[in-house]
Amino acid sequence: HDKLDSFPPGFLWGAASAAYQIEGGWNTDGKGASIWDEFTKIPGKTYQGTNGDVAVDHYHRYQEDVRLMAEMGLKTYRFSVAWSRIFPDGSGKVNEKGLQFYEDLIDALLANQIEPVLTLYHWDIPKSLQDSYQGWESRQAIEDFSQYCQVLFHRFKDKVTYWVTFNEQNVFTAMGYRWQSHPPNVADVKRMFQANHVINLANATAIKEFRSIVPNGKIGPSFGYGPIYSYDCQPNNVLAALNGEEFQNHWWLDVYVHGKYPKVTFRHLERLGIAPTIEPSDMELLQSVKPDFLGVNYYHGGTVRVNDFNTSSTTNVSTIDKSFEATDPYLMQPKDEQAQNPEKTMFTSVANPYLEKTKWGWEIDPVGLRIALRRLQNRYDLPMLITENGLGALDEKTNQGTIEDDYRINYLQSHIHEIQQAITDGVDVIGYCAWSFTDLLSWLNGYKKRYGFVYIDRDDQSEKQLARIPKKSFYWYKKVIESNGKIL
Ligand code: BG6
Repeated sequence: HDKLDSFPPGFLWGAASAAYQIEGGWNTDGKGASIWDEFTKIPGKTYQGTNGDVAVDHYHRYQEDVRLMAEMGLKTYRFSVAWSRIFPDGSGKVNEKGLQFYEDLIDALLANQIEPVLTLYHWDIPKSLQDSYQGWESRQAIEDFSQYCQVLFHRFKDKVTYWVTFNEQNVFTAMGYRWQSHPPNVADVKRMFQANHVINLANATAIKEFRSIVPNGKIGPSFGYGPIYSYDCQPNNVLAALNGEEFQNHWWLDVYVHGKYPKVTFRHLERLGIAPTIEPSDMELLQSVKPDFLGVNYYHGGTVRVNDFNTSSTTNVSTIDKSFEATDPYLMQPKDEQAQNPEKTMFTSVANPYLEKTKWGWEIDPVGLRIALRRLQNRYDLPMLITENGLGALDEKTNQGTIEDDYRINYLQSHIHEIQQAITDGVDVIGYCAWSFTDLLSWLNGYKKRYGFVYIDRDDQSEKQLARIPKKSFYWYKKVIESNGKIL
């Protein structure tokens, strides 16, 4: 394009966070434990045993944090509510002090003309619900989640317009029920798909309630989206990329927006005996709601090709059916093993030779964000709010006490530029929340992997004074916001 369209007036320039990663005060003012309060204490699960007991103490310092947001000129701030502050036992009695904390935070934001974006679930189901009925594996969680949401809907319906239901359902189900790297620390793909189905129902139920309680509000899930690329134009690899896009992305998004599971993946999981059990009224419920917007968390995509054993005549999922006549080693494996590795016959992930990576191995791919927005607009046709995007880095303080994070500025600048390209293409993007406002706890990587515009002076060993220091990127983003994206 010769000339790019401007960002629309009222574009929501923002930053994001999540309760467990910033609040601390893990048992303060009546808060109950969540599954993360327990999981981080299991030896070996997190980097050097770091946890969110104190985090960056936002629970006690939210006023200072909001002052910094106001100084930066932030238009929107995305945060999550810790369910176990509202219901210490997950259900039953409401903890007024927990509600009051979020009300004070919301009021402080509104007093500074900062639009709150409230995430209902950022991975922290109350521990008591996990203990009593295995959390998301039980349909009782749908009812309890709905009660919790209704309390928040009623309390904040006149103050909060934008609501996010689930943060990265794809990530927390895979990490929690397959890879054992998140709570509830399970490695069973069948259980993963079943819990995931229950969460879909909880999502739909919450949106349904929302419509009657907050008729003028906007609600949607935040999905961790990464576009899947084919390694090259070999048709089998292109087919693998089609499989990858469906298995990794449409599996969730088609349910959120169209109320259906994608057919090819569903059939594949059925053959393996790991498809979720669907009860008669489930699909009706899923089809009865639609989000107002899609929350998009974008860090990177993925590149795939067909698995070697699959190249001859057999490039797609139907190879599974023929396992009795197969001679290759993978297909000779017991069905159980296939069921724990369902994508193996669909695609395999490879590195993208064109992209550089962060220190933690995440590909840096700004154009991928434009591709993501284009694909999502094309398939789902909803307004999009970018609810996360950012760079994790090892920021160091200079001798003068400043943080010169030019690499972060470059990262954000190049991604915002691609959003502007997408807007010029015709994509409907309503806002951008960088991850994150202050530095915070990286779930598995401790405090040294930093994302914030505001440096928090603490490390993995010591909380120190938890001083807040705006980084160079803070002043850069302030200008971006002031100019509505004209100065990048
Ligand atoms: C997203 C999550 O997956 O990525 C955030 O929604 C998380 O909560 C962010 O912090 C970055 O991940 P990490 O592992 O680098 O902290």
